[in-house]
Amino acid sequence: MEVKQIDIDDVISKLTVEEKAKLTSGRDFWHTHPVHRLGVPSLRFSDGPYGVRGTKFTDAVPTASIPSGTVLACSWNTELMYELGKMMGDQARAKGAHLLLGPTINMARSPLGGRSFESFGEDPILTGVLASALSQGIKDRKVMICPKHLACNDKEDSRMAMNVEISERALREIYMLPFMIVQKNNDPESYMTAYNKIRGKHGSENEYLMRDIVEKEWGFKGCFMSDWFGTVSTADSINAGLHLEMPGPPIWRGKLVENCVYHNTITEESLNEAVRGVLTLVNGAAKSGIPEDADEGQLHNKEIVALNRQAAREALVLMRNEGILPLQKKKVLVIGESAKKANYCAGGACTVNAYHPVSLYDSLVENLGESNVDWVIGAPNRRVLPSLGLYAKEKSKKPITYRTYDEPRSVRDRKILSELTVPEVNVMMFEFDPASIRPGHHLHATFSVTINVPESSKYRYNLKVAGSAQVLINGDVHATHVTDYVSGSDMGMNAPEIFKEVYLEAGKDYLFEVDFESTSGKDGLSAGSLGCGIEKAVAPEDYIKEAADLAKKYDQVIVITGLNKDFETEGIDRSTMDMPPHQDLLVESVLDSNPNTVVIIESGTAVTLPWEKKAKAILHSGYLGEELGNAIFDVVFGEYNPSGKLTFTWPKRYEDNSAATSFELDKSLSLTYLDDIYMGYRHNDISKIDPLFAFGHGLSYTTFKFDNLKVSVADHTIDLSVDVKNTGDRDGSAVVQAYVSPKNSSVPQAVKSLKGFTKVFCKAGASVTAKVSMDKKLACSFYNTSIKQWTLEAGEYNVAVGSSSDKLEITETFEIEKCANWIML
Ligand code: BGC
Repeated sequence: MEVKQIDIDDVISKLTVEEKAKLTSGRDFWHTHPVHRLGVPSLRFSDGPYGVRGTKFTDAVPTASIPSGTVLACSWNTELMYELGKMMGDQARAKGAHLLLGPTINMARSPLGGRSFESFGEDPILTGVLASALSQGIKDRKVMICPKHLACNDKEDSRMAMNVEISERALREIYMLPFMIVQKNNDPESYMTAYNKIRGKHGSENEYLMRDIVEKEWGFKGCFMSDWFGTVSTADSINAGLHLEMPGPPIWRGKLVENCVYHNTITEESLNEAVRGVLTLVNGAAKSGIPEDADEGQLHNKEIVALNRQAAREALVLMRNEGILPLQKKKVLVIGESAKKANYCAGGACTVNAYHPVSLYDSLVENLGESNVDWVIGAPNRRVLPSLGLYAKEKSKKPITYRTYDEPRSVRDRKILSELTVPEVNVMMFEFDPASIRPGHHLHATFSVTINVPESSKYRYNLKVAGSAQVLINGDVHATHVTDYVSGSDMGMNAPEIFKEVYLEAGKDYLFEVDFESTSGKDGLSAGSLGCGIEKAVAPEDYIKEAADLAKKYDQVIVITGLNKDFETEGIDRSTMDMPPHQDLLVESVLDSNPNTVVIIESGTAVTLPWEKKAKAILHSGYLGEELGNAIFDVVFGEYNPSGKLTFTWPKRYEDNSAATSFELDKSLSLTYLDDIYMGYRHNDISKIDPLFAFGHGLSYTTFKFDNLKVSVADHTIDLSVDVKNTGDRDGSAVVQAYVSPKNSSVPQAVKSLKGFTKVFCKAGASVTAKVSMDKKLACSFYNTSIKQWTLEAGEYNVAVGSSSDKLEITETFEIEKCANWIML
């Protein structure tokens, strides 16, 4: 059905209460409810912020994968963000998605936050401005946006139950500010509420955030939807302003809403308001020309590849370089599992099936020739073992057969419900239409693959299960694992795991079968998940010794390690800032063997680098999207001059992070943001703590000198101009960062805050004049709790400009003559 404009009032006047109740929740995981008789179509939503996954996790139609959050933002490049936004809009159109569930504009408050990687870092203005550019690109392709998650969704452990206590200034000046900027610049069609409570109320019931701030103060007129399974009540959520429960079928809406109307705990007026919010999306979608329930298609071409390569290059941050980089285009030893793995995205809702992810190893071979590239694993770096498909006898992308049933193996001639070929053993129950399983039955599944290993050895496999599972090798049961339902295990995140070893002979066929049965879960619904992988059982120390011994023999060595989607994902925080087991020992052993080794750290947040003093070159990478290997190649071998700047402070040790004393929940699952407005670099400034690498830090293969700073105060902006001279011998891009400090504020203030930035390209030896325009209200205001408004404070201000928050080269002052109070930008 074509999606057409509707007259919302007219439709509401004709809807029955039953239809209205239905409209306030999703039809399924990714679609809204239609009411075809009144021209209301079903709309499609899709994750995620850094690729458009479409309607399936398993066997998803591929999409273009772009760099993730904290690293994408390291580009500090608004034009690039806009181009990527347009490309994402095109991807959404290809997938028939009317609305993209993003951008994620929470704050990377702690390096331990499981999802910190997904945000744009620790600065609200950088986040708001970059998110606006990305959003505008998406919207210019007539695809709707859904900034998320409103608000303070900065921690994953107990995310559905935890509470955030926060001062009004910190809430407004840090955590709500990016949302306010996006509201002002992009007029979003929807917002997604947070799982957590904010001052005692879940995001989905938080009238203060939804109604009082976003609607009344900011003028939002669209749809508030809950995060998936984040609706926690029927009447309270509707009365607080939550229009849409996602996903469907509903837990709290549908019939329950009808019941509440009957008992008048929801008035028909409030129900109409909820329906109105949802129907605004129909009119938003009507502009797109995307039909209802469209087929999911693909869109990939050379331009997309080139854009993704550029985005990934600009996301790389050269953190240290003592004359090692760039390397020469000759023989290289590359060490690390992730060199071959292509960690193009992190975990959770960001997961996409990328078109052609290029690993660093692939790119090295392509560019230097196979004979010039040697690789060793160094030390395995993962929670999830590699797919059983790795050793499949039949070489194919999807070598594993996956059959589902609603009866166990013991039932002879059981009926197959579905049959697929897949790349790995992986079940997430929410991907199933419960209607395909008969009432009272569980889902049963069997994965089967014939494997044939290249080396006789002991192998280790795992079974990560919510529900029950068994592994059969050549028909004999080799392992059984039966577990209770644990929160988060539906996506496999917290599912209990066992490991087993088996000796396999090279060249011999083994039929591996993995049986799964779902559980009744916490709500009596069929729930659960399964994961199973395999690897050669080798002691990590043996691998490390092999790598360190080899490193001595090479002139050029790269070691690549860090985190990946097993460690940075939804639903769980990291328990330590350290890298996963064995990785520090690996890097240090290799550096001891060959002090000229280039270290590449792949992560979305900071990790401790205990060996850092020994390293002459450290490059920060991350989840760089599908062109990651090529982008790393370009920077390491000098094809691209690095220009990325850190979007979060890299502390020397965890204790130095601003949230370190207030990241743990108390017994009542509450957390007070003790860092208040002094989050990130503001904490380092006020507490005089030197970071290892400062917010905004990032080197180039050339050098820049900033000079001749001029400031002029206009009606709505404070405009800076600064001369940037490239004083080295390579062309390159410089990021001009402007930090403002009020001189005599009436309230406590951060020592300095980023208020504007721009990125300029400059040829070797040449100069350019960079212009930075700062929004006057944003640059000179604080949230005045006594009058519940923002105050643009009169007085003198310093503005310091430089290439990093710890390298501010020139300062000027300016004056704001008149004080003014304001509510919305
Ligand atoms: C995430 C959201 C996401 C949703 C749908 C949730 O787990 O928090 O960001 O959009 O799932 O995948």
